[in-house]
Amino acid sequence: MRMGWAWIAACVAATWMTVSLPAVAADVAKLESPGRVLSVTLAVDGDGRLDYRVDRLGGEVIAPSRLGLMLGNARALSRYLQFENAERREQDETWEQPWGERRLVRDRYTEMTAHFVQKRSGVRVDVVFRLYDDGLGFRYAIPAQEGLDHVEIEDELTEFTIAEPASAWWIPAGEWNRYEYLYQRTPLNQVGRAHTPLTLRTDAGLHVAIHEAALVDYPGMWLTRPEGQRLRAQLAPGGAKRSLPMTTPWRSVQISDDAAGLVDSNLILNLNEPNRLGDVSWFKPGKYAGVWWSLHLNKETWSTGEKHGATTANTRRYIDFAADNGLIGVLVEGWNRGWDGDWFGWGREFEFASASEDFDLDTLSDYAKKKGVQLILHHETGCAVSRYERQLSDAMTLAEKHGVHAIKTGYVCDSGQIQRQDVEGGPISREWHDGQWMSNHFLRVLQEAAKHRIAINSHEPIKDTGLRRTWPNWISREGARGMEYNAWGNPKNPPSHEVNLVYTRLLSGPMDYTPGVVSLKGRGDTPIPSTLARQLALYVVIYSPIQMLADLPEHYAEHPEVMPFLRAVPTDWESSQLVAGEVGEYAVMARRDRNSSAWYVGAITDEHGRQIDLPLSFLDPKRKYRAEIYRDGDDADFRSNPFAFASETRTVTAADRLRLRIAPGGGEAIRFVPLR
Ligand code: NOJ
Ligand code: CA
Repeated sequence: MRMGWAWIAACVAATWMTVSLPAVAADVAKLESPGRVLSVTLAVDGDGRLDYRVDRLGGEVIAPSRLGLMLGNARALSRYLQFENAERREQDETWEQPWGERRLVRDRYTEMTAHFVQKRSGVRVDVVFRLYDDGLGFRYAIPAQEGLDHVEIEDELTEFTIAEPASAWWIPAGEWNRYEYLYQRTPLNQVGRAHTPLTLRTDAGLHVAIHEAALVDYPGMWLTRPEGQRLRAQLAPGGAKRSLPMTTPWRSVQISDDAAGLVDSNLILNLNEPNRLGDVSWFKPGKYAGVWWSLHLNKETWSTGEKHGATTANTRRYIDFAADNGLIGVLVEGWNRGWDGDWFGWGREFEFASASEDFDLDTLSDYAKKKGVQLILHHETGCAVSRYERQLSDAMTLAEKHGVHAIKTGYVCDSGQIQRQDVEGGPISREWHDGQWMSNHFLRVLQEAAKHRIAINSHEPIKDTGLRRTWPNWISREGARGMEYNAWGNPKNPPSHEVNLVYTRLLSGPMDYTPGVVSLKGRGDTPIPSTLARQLALYVVIYSPIQMLADLPEHYAEHPEVMPFLRAVPTDWESSQLVAGEVGEYAVMARRDRNSSAWYVGAITDEHGRQIDLPLSFLDPKRKYRAEIYRDGDDADFRSNPFAFASETRTVTAADRLRLRIAPGGGEAIRFVPLR
């Protein structure tokens, strides 16, 4: 039979018709947040593809965006999904943090679990949405079911299509230096592969931050941008292997009119499970000093020898400094064996239960105890992580025996170079700092530490996703460019970096930034891009339950003018609020001490000087306060006159306003003490 043109044209038309029939999406379920600010709508199209969209006060924030999972051991959960039904519930309760940026946290949400079944495979999958007035979380849940006992999740098909043009603040994901990059500000449609939190401000002024919560037994989520304003989840390499039933971490979206709404939100904490450790009062928030900055300055060494920093005599000096200034701890790096070779990204000589010869742990822990100070031991793994795990129990036992209640861990190697060795002496495979295996490693360390009443401060960590709520011995972490870059970084942290942190990294949780370098000098006496007053402000602006006085005792001795504030400023808060600020420009934070009625304000700016008119309405209206002000001198400038500094006191009430004059690269710190 000859096929004429008419016949071929008919066939093409028919094919065309079946392939491109507009797969009309039909809404299948909808949920509104408790105060009806946000709503989410789920829709399934003619191909059984699932999407969600998010509206705020009637305006679209997230345009229809795909949901789905790419499975290695079953058909992709991307098409042929059929909506079954949805269950709804709501909650409004207030819980208490054992320590934190605020004591009480209100958890008020509506929740919808939408059940789907895949027509061809019969596989069942749920999507759970939790809506707050200031954001939402959603996650996949794969229930136990016949014929499928586990899933191999190769990737997520989750997307976030931002409806309006926006500016984005982000750092690259999948690059060698983990999370330690300067933030870029670009239009959303120029974002590359990015880590979260990724912060957006739409051209209309809406603030949006995309992140995740409760990252457990799963790879971290990166964001890619297939086109335009459409972002897509990409799991850190390796994917996830999980038995059923399972849930993914929550994908979170904070949405607010202003920058303060992002900073003051409890969304990430609320999306985590409640405390599983019970009483952790053995961990006391506070400030610490340490054998640390001298190492980064190259004045002393981690390795033993002439310049060894962690010697008995030197550590004793730091204990004295801590005791004299009301600090609770002294960090010692280089106290243990294994630093003498080339440990960087190697770590195969590290011993965590054995001190070096010139560091007398027994004597020092007795001395510290007598002085009311605790030792904070350091566990740098050099990324020999399985090796560390094999020593974990002995290491924690040794630490506990010496009155240690906090350990700083470290994972120095490039991304993707973590050493995993399941059997001692067996083959070594490589893992990512934010892969599934490492997300579990961090929890193994926390759990072992908790048995010994020890808290963990991890450097080169996986990103924070609010797990401190569930495991309140995960007290702090690095996970961004910290102060160390001001010792040896090229470039150092420009003033805009610390401002950017407030609206990006710090949305995820506490950071061990290690402020307070009052000498304002890095390695080789190179200048640090900061004024003196700014170093004080950082203690209030950046939240962490442990804050280091990072500089050398002899440098603090040269700056008695800053010591009253550094001695007084607490690290545990009754409440916190961003009283003024714009993403990437400046931030003014007010916090009330958890153990007194004093308030503290910290303000920092980027490279631009600023005058800020600060209403004191956060203060108790029934009281008068003495405001102890530590500010930039009138002609201060981080480039030319960083040490220009002034301190003064004034009597104020909640009805007053203060005029802050912050120098370029500067800052201001204020302590408000109630008067009788
Ligand atoms: C990097 C950490 O961030 C830093 O604080 C530590 O001193 C070094 N690694 C050595 O472990
Ligand atoms: Ca680091």
